Amino acid sequence: MGEKDISQAVIARLPRYFRYLGELKDEGVERISSQELSTLMQVTASQIRQDFNNFGGFGQQGYGYNVEYLYQEIGKILGLDKEHQLIVVGAGNLGTALCNYANFKRRGFYFAGVFDQNPDLIGKKVGNLFVKPMEEMEDFVKNNTIDIAVLCIPKTSAVNVADKLVKCGVKAFWNFAHCDLNVPKGIVVENVHLSDSLIKLSYNLNENR
Ligand code: NAI
Repeated sequence: MGEKDISQAVIARLPRYFRYLGELKDEGVERISSQELSTLMQVTASQIRQDFNNFGGFGQQGYGYNVEYLYQEIGKILGLDKEHQLIVVGAGNLGTALCNYANFKRRGFYFAGVFDQNPDLIGKKVGNLFVKPMEEMEDFVKNNTIDIAVLCIPKTSAVNVADKLVKCGVKAFWNFAHCDLNVPKGIVVENVHLSDSLIKLSYNLNENR
């Protein structure tokens, strides 16, 4: 089975496996059974085995999984064995917060540029970058092999900006604007809506009443 056939629900669980395995690795744990991982992550052991079987099962032999191997393999599946160069469009509250979050670098995501249309923000330091004007965005993307763009701009301009970036070779969008992007085949979009997460919390709170 190719990775393309794997359900999005399984893919969505992989970052969590990766995070837990990273913590186990840092604690010096060498092997872990699906039962122990299940208790730690509060997912059933059968769910873990089913998820891992999508990728050949990661060779559980004797006692449990080899933590380092599993961590590396899941990292490869997630594309974390490569470095990614990102730009951020929109240096407001959200763009600034993302640029300031240093941990993305640990996972191989490098913020290479940040752009805004507001002249008052040009040249301002955000994270370790200086905000550049939008007029420089396209050349910057072409010259710096940027593969991911983070959109932290209002929905009124996100579609237009995304179109320009696709033409310059951007292959993926981390889209915080509250709109759907109409991108060509082969371009991937991850929409992030923090309010969806909050609403889910509200649902679960209601269920528990
Ligand atoms: P903000 O107003 O602090 O920053 C927006 C920045 O985008 C401003 O600096 C503005 O000059 C710039 N901008 C606007 N149009 C532009 C364009 N065409 N090209 C380049 N820069 C442009 O807003 P904030 O809080 O940073 O939020 C950014 C966007 O993300 C908003 O539209 C907001 O609705 C959305 N948002 C989405 C969230 C989510 O969970 N998906 C959470 C928070 C905000």
